[in-house]
Amino acid sequence: MYGKEIKKILVTREQIAKRVKELGEQITRDYAGEPLTLVCTLRGATLFFADLVREIRGDVEIDFIACSSYGAGTTSSGEVKMIKDLSSPIAGKNIIVVEDIIDTGTTLYYLKKLLEARNPKSLKVCSFLDKPSRRKVEFKGDYIGFEIENEYVVGYGLDYDQKMRNLPDVCVLAPEVYMGDLNKVL
Ligand code: PRP
Repeated sequence: MYGKEIKKILVTREQIAKRVKELGEQITRDYAGEPLTLVCTLRGATLFFADLVREIRGDVEIDFIACSSYGAGTTSSGEVKMIKDLSSPIAGKNIIVVEDIIDTGTTLYYLKKLLEARNPKSLKVCSFLDKPSRRKVEFKGDYIGFEIENEYVVGYGLDYDQKMRNLPDVCVLAPEVYMGDLNKVL
């Protein structure tokens, strides 16, 4: 069902749905009786976020933030820029930052420090994917969907050069795509 730009499906939509439901149940249990604000990091986490919030029961608010650590292409620049801040203050609130992937750890290390300075009641991180082998900055997520190897993944919100976010499964990109040899695969 996918073209040659996709090497293989890594996590199917069925596996995703099952794991997102489990995470939602776990978060529901952990915050029982407590109001919770879920913060979506644009843009990669949007699909995961939309599915996750619907699996959480209780008093939930949502907000959005955008940081960028990558330019075009596939490697992290190590620089984190704030592109869009939250719409509401978070002081005294229970916050879970929802990410699509923890890679080098740079983005979340920076984002967590920035949000902690605003004195939330609690601050945790839920990431759909985690690539621990890629860490440059020590960072551990509180809720993780899937731990994966160091492969370039696209789909379910994750992009290659802003494309392929709409693929319903998490897929491994064919290396030829980012090696620049597009004619071989497209
Ligand atoms: C990606 C991803 C994480 C970050 C992870 O964001 O969404 O925020 O990189 O990498 P790190 O752990 O090395 O910092 P990106 O800046 O590509 O934006 P996007 O969410 O719009 O794809």
